[in-house]
Amino acid sequence: MKIGIPKEIKTNENRVALVPSGAAALVADGHAVIVETGAGQGSGFGDAEYREAGAQIAPDAATVWAAADLIVKVKEPIEPEWPRIRPGQCIFTYFHFAASEALTRAHLASGAVCIAYETVELPSRELPLLTPMSEVAGRMAVQEGAKYLEKLYGGRGVLLAGVPGVAPGKVVILGGGVVGENAAKIAAGIGAQVVLLDISVQRLRHLSDILPVNVQLIHSNRHNLLRHIANADLVIGAVLIHGAAAPKLILREDLKAMRPGTVIVDVSVDQGGCVETIRPTTHENPTFIVDGIVHYGVANMPGGVPLTATLALTNATLPYVQQLAARGCKQALRENAALLNGLNIIDGKVTHRKVAEAFGLDYHPAESIVD
Ligand SMILES: NC(=O)c1ccc[n+]([C@@H]2O[C@H](COP(=O)([O-])OP(=O)(O)OC[C@H]3O[C@@H](n4cnc5c(N)ncnc54)[C@H](O)[C@@H]3O)[C@@H](O)[C@H]2O)c1
Repeated sequence: MKIGIPKEIKTNENRVALVPSGAAALVADGHAVIVETGAGQGSGFGDAEYREAGAQIAPDAATVWAAADLIVKVKEPIEPEWPRIRPGQCIFTYFHFAASEALTRAHLASGAVCIAYETVELPSRELPLLTPMSEVAGRMAVQEGAKYLEKLYGGRGVLLAGVPGVAPGKVVILGGGVVGENAAKIAAGIGAQVVLLDISVQRLRHLSDILPVNVQLIHSNRHNLLRHIANADLVIGAVLIHGAAAPKLILREDLKAMRPGTVIVDVSVDQGGCVETIRPTTHENPTFIVDGIVHYGVANMPGGVPLTATLALTNATLPYVQQLAARGCKQALRENAALLNGLNIIDGKVTHRKVAEAFGLDYHPAESIVD
């Protein structure tokens, strides 16, 4: 099969969908890999490394899109890319269709087979292609929080680790899923006092088995939350209710009960955020202050560390790319239920219930279409 890797053109997207070792694996499987010149640059991989791996380097995006049966990307194709999509072409990437009707309609009209990373789902309900980005964001949340606690940025001027003779800072984490667990590991590792709240007692039980003893695991309710944010230095928002907007756990009036210079890193901002006063920000301008509290709301945190994020993402995606290439897209979808969950659009039809509901479109169960 011919597999195409275009350079990402969304603003500040430095990740790439395939690294040279992945290209080598696909070439060894007997496929042709066509990489747009410069595609890996933002993640530290030059054209020469792809060439050495056996890939062909294409001079521009048009060549890649025209040649490939399977396009592997990181972000959804944006408007300039839409005319390049060919009927029957398979596109494997993060799509987030429910967030954009124009994007959805463009892909319906294209006749492409659209498999979305974010809805590939294992029987355990794990989302294996979202997990690595949550791991990155969770770990990064502590690093970013620690930075914005510095006085220069409006923070309290607290060193989270403390020093001998001075107590460490307090990190409060709301939600103990993938983001929360990873944030807790890092915060505990640097010696902070860590409190993690989750509504699921089952989840708290699991975390108590795997997290160090300087992480207190507390049931999430309004009383406990207010008690702990009142003397926090860093609060990390990491809640998720699958398919729904994040619940607002910290209200504007609650900020007054917090100490000035406290930092809130709301990782759940991509689902609307769990803090009433949060809004999405960018890596160029990541923070703003409300009532003396520093708010960090970067919606694509992994984009700030593309070298790590690209490797983490491609470790997870490569086995699926190999299956799609080996079996052909439609046969791979028939054989792999997790991949079939990722199918959002095929032959001009929506095969994901939430995408159809979002725009009042007809829903066609994926199983009935690829059979
Ligand atoms: N900003 C970014 O760059 C970025 C990157 C990756 C993930 N995210 C987002 O981070 C959020 C968390 O992702 P995840 O992978 O950890 O999800 P997850 O499903 O693994 O974990 C969510 C946790 O929140 C808990 N929860 C739900 N309601 C709660 C409440 N009221 N109080 C306390 N806990 C509650 C759940 O029990 C669950 O354990 C998602 O919105 C995800 O999209 C953002």
